[in-house]
Amino acid sequence: MKAKLSEVKTDPCGKVSEYLKFLINKGGPEPRDYEKFTSIINNLKPEEVDSFREEITCVLNENTLIGHGFVKPYGYPGDFTLIDKIYQFSFNEDVTYMNWDLFFQNQPGANAVRNRKDFFIEYCNKLVSEKKDAKVLILGSGPASDVYDFLSSQMGDNSIIFDLIDFDQAAIDFSMKKNERFNGQVSYHRINALRFNSYKLYDLIWSAGLFDYFKDKHFTFLIRKYFNCLEDEGEMVISNFSTKNPTRRLMEVLSDWYLNLRTESDLYRIASDAGIDKELVSVEKEPLGINLFLKIKKTKIQDCTGRSGK
Ligand SMILES: C[S@@+](CC[C@H](N)C(=O)[O-])C[C@H]1O[C@@H](n2cnc3c(N)ncnc32)[C@H](O)[C@@H]1O
Repeated sequence: MKAKLSEVKTDPCGKVSEYLKFLINKGGPEPRDYEKFTSIINNLKPEEVDSFREEITCVLNENTLIGHGFVKPYGYPGDFTLIDKIYQFSFNEDVTYMNWDLFFQNQPGANAVRNRKDFFIEYCNKLVSEKKDAKVLILGSGPASDVYDFLSSQMGDNSIIFDLIDFDQAAIDFSMKKNERFNGQVSYHRINALRFNSYKLYDLIWSAGLFDYFKDKHFTFLIRKYFNCLEDEGEMVISNFSTKNPTRRLMEVLSDWYLNLRTESDLYRIASDAGIDKELVSVEKEPLGINLFLKIKKTKIQDCTGRSGK
């Protein structure tokens, strides 16, 4: 049943629908409105969500970042254009929409996405300091802004290579254009990560913003599959948004964007279900604790099932 929003009070002296009109008239919430707007969304009952979206329908379109998520022009939420815009902290400069975008960009979830790029760059810096010709495989590479920023920061004394996998040709085209000047160091494969077969072994297999879309059984399957593509001493690093993501409800209500959020213990359990010894597994997080990183290291003594045979 769809509940009429106008019956819901924002506070003793205001109704939600009037408050939303007020926000729309001034181009979206300003920082002083964030707490109240977020609290309204966090307290919406499931049956009120449709009415809420109707009230803000004039901004739930491609003019805003929340609307881009809602409309899903590429058929799925979190596409390469949206992710790249998060990395660039870009926003619509038209005052009709600007505050909506600034609101989105200032959410902890968006900050956590930017933090995961920093995590990646730090990781790759460490990798090339240990092995100049490291090979990296990226699953669900999207815009590959992370690869671009890392390679742009390098002085040319390494020959690290990146193989990028994405099932969206538009994402591949975008990342290829972006990384044009690193031709030879970056290769592109348009294929579903579930189906890709590699003849190479990698020092790092990285995936951010992909496994949150998979059910546990696909997650487990992919760990098993890609573990066999690691070099001895190679590592797999998989990001997953935490159940503690404070932006969860905003993403769901405003952008119809649902993720399989996981806890640290979920990640340890999944690795264990994939047959990986627990001493090879660790979980790290970026500073906000929203993006968790499951890390699985392959050591020389393991067999291809991931077991160390102890
Ligand atoms: C949220 S984006 C993350 C992009 C990038 N890893 C980052 O963190 O900036 C997810 C990407 O995964 C791709 N993708 C989703 N499911 C996939 C699958 N099964 N196989 C390959 N790519 C997939 C999408 O096309 C999209 O480009």
